[in-house]
Amino acid sequence: MAAERSSHALFRGFALVTGIVILVAIGLYVLTDGKINEDPSLPTPETYAAVDRLMENDPVRGARATAGLELYRHRCRLCHHRSGRGGDKFTPSLQKHDAQSAVAMLDIYRSGQKVGPMTVLMTPWAEELSEEEMHNLGEYIEILATVADANPRGEQSEGG
Ligand code: HEC
Repeated sequence: MAAERSSHALFRGFALVTGIVILVAIGLYVLTDGKINEDPSLPTPETYAAVDRLMENDPVRGARATAGLELYRHRCRLCHHRSGRGGDKFTPSLQKHDAQSAVAMLDIYRSGQKVGPMTVLMTPWAEELSEEEMHNLGEYIEILATVADANPRGEQSEGG
């Protein structure tokens, strides 16, 4: 008898906890507009859509932007953010650049010239880039300038 009662109580406790977890999950999903499961290391859906549109209109530039997206995600996002908006203090926004001006800046950093006070942070990343990679990144940065990040809070924050 006693054992049966305690196993009932255990089951009720378990059901209660499960219920609460499910309710909290639903609540978070609703409160965050479905973005709770968004991976901040990935470009926003709007960015993917813009790359797709370019791919349809201009497959050559679209392919560059697609390659640029992958590079950017792994090498540039942590400092410049997935939206290209830059950091809070030191990292400039990339959103003012089109492909040409972004490539021009990368070329300057790659050549080792001093630009701003934080050039040492940027130079090693530019030095690793091939000519082709710079153009791929430029194409992607031009797209970033056209896409508003609907979920800036989904980004990881960084000190720079
Ligand atoms: C470690 C952090 C960091 C990483 C990673 C990084 N950057 Fe930067 N980037 C900076 C900082 C800081 C500056 C400004 C440097 C200065 O003061 O001259 C900068 C400047 C730039 C600029 C010039 C912007 C302007 O208008 O002044 C471009 C373009 C740029 N980065 C592109 C990239 C790309 C593309 C990548 C990936 C390959 C990348 N960065 C990776 C930190 C970083």
